[in-house]
Amino acid sequence: MEPSRRVLVTGATGFIGRRLVEALLKEGFVVRCLSRRAEEGFAPGAEGVMGDLLEPASLEGALKDVDTAYYLVHALGEGREGFRRRDREAAENFVAAAEEAGLRRTIYLGGLGESGNHLSEHLASRLEVAETLRKAAFPVTVLRAAVIIGAGGASYEILRSLVRRLPLLAIPTAIDTRCQPIAVEDVIAYLVGCLKDERTAGQTFDIGGPEVLSYHEMLERLARVAGTLNLYLPLPLLPVRLFAYGVALATPVKASVAIPLIEGLKNEVVCRDERIRELLPLSQTPFDEAVRRALTEEYAARPARPG
Ligand SMILES: NC(=O)c1ccc[n+]([C@@H]2O[C@H](COP(=O)([O-])OP(=O)(O)OC[C@H]3O[C@@H](n4cnc5c(N)ncnc54)[C@H](OP(=O)(O)O)[C@@H]3O)[C@@H](O)[C@H]2O)c1
Repeated sequence: MEPSRRVLVTGATGFIGRRLVEALLKEGFVVRCLSRRAEEGFAPGAEGVMGDLLEPASLEGALKDVDTAYYLVHALGEGREGFRRRDREAAENFVAAAEEAGLRRTIYLGGLGESGNHLSEHLASRLEVAETLRKAAFPVTVLRAAVIIGAGGASYEILRSLVRRLPLLAIPTAIDTRCQPIAVEDVIAYLVGCLKDERTAGQTFDIGGPEVLSYHEMLERLARVAGTLNLYLPLPLLPVRLFAYGVALATPVKASVAIPLIEGLKNEVVCRDERIRELLPLSQTPFDEAVRRALTEEYAARPARPG
């Protein structure tokens, strides 16, 4: 796509959206950011537009003169009750407004996980959004990712707060499933790469880092990189839901976000294929390096101590 064409980023205030907007501006794209919050400030050089995907009338104009839109929205932050319905409605409203405006292409970042595999409600909802977007008249690129490692990411922050706050932790063996985490910088590189490579239009790709790890291993590796002494006790009979409620108390991430994410840990989230690497042969950041970068960002953001 020509850099002079306009790109819309929905979810522009989120963990991925903010970083993506900066990366697109650096590449010279004209970027419009969508948010429900009028007070939200965006990166210098980006256009801001107010809109709520659950209020179709508010989307008028948001998609005008847009070539490609990124879909980076989810409704977990608004409460667990009904989030799946809200996510489906938001995607349907987006498709209707985008078709009306003549959008050429969409790129969606969703979740890994196979349907029919007793998926958690959160992962099932991510797949449902992909299905809804795929029904649009324009081509949709779907990128599927597991846990994204980066400061401010909900899943990463849950793992980080467990390591920081609970040096001794019992974990249900039911969540000791396999996961293929990916560094946030690699996700951004894939998102930008898909925009620049038309061969990715209308396709679904799994994206992951170079290692497949269990959640238990991720906690141990995170503790090692952070330099803390932590002990994890796998318990076969500990119910996942009880663990999820306990963990939600120990993390700063909202319970409405944390509980569905933790319930999703019982599902294996590993890439089924690596087709994306043939089209976009980007380097893959090792897990420990991704954690090191996240910790550096976390420490840099801490207020300096007086004196
Ligand atoms: N974080 C991860 O580890 C991870 C892993 C795999 C996949 N993903 C996927 O990556 C995508 C982005 O996730 P994220 O972590 O960046 O999410 P996030 O930080 O929670 O941001 C969610 C965004 O959704 C927007 N939003 C919610 N409801 C909206 C509505 N009704 N209308 C318009 N905007 C709405 C919010 O914008 P305002 O509040 O400003 O309106 C916010 O910017 C999601 O599809 C997620 O499933 C994330």
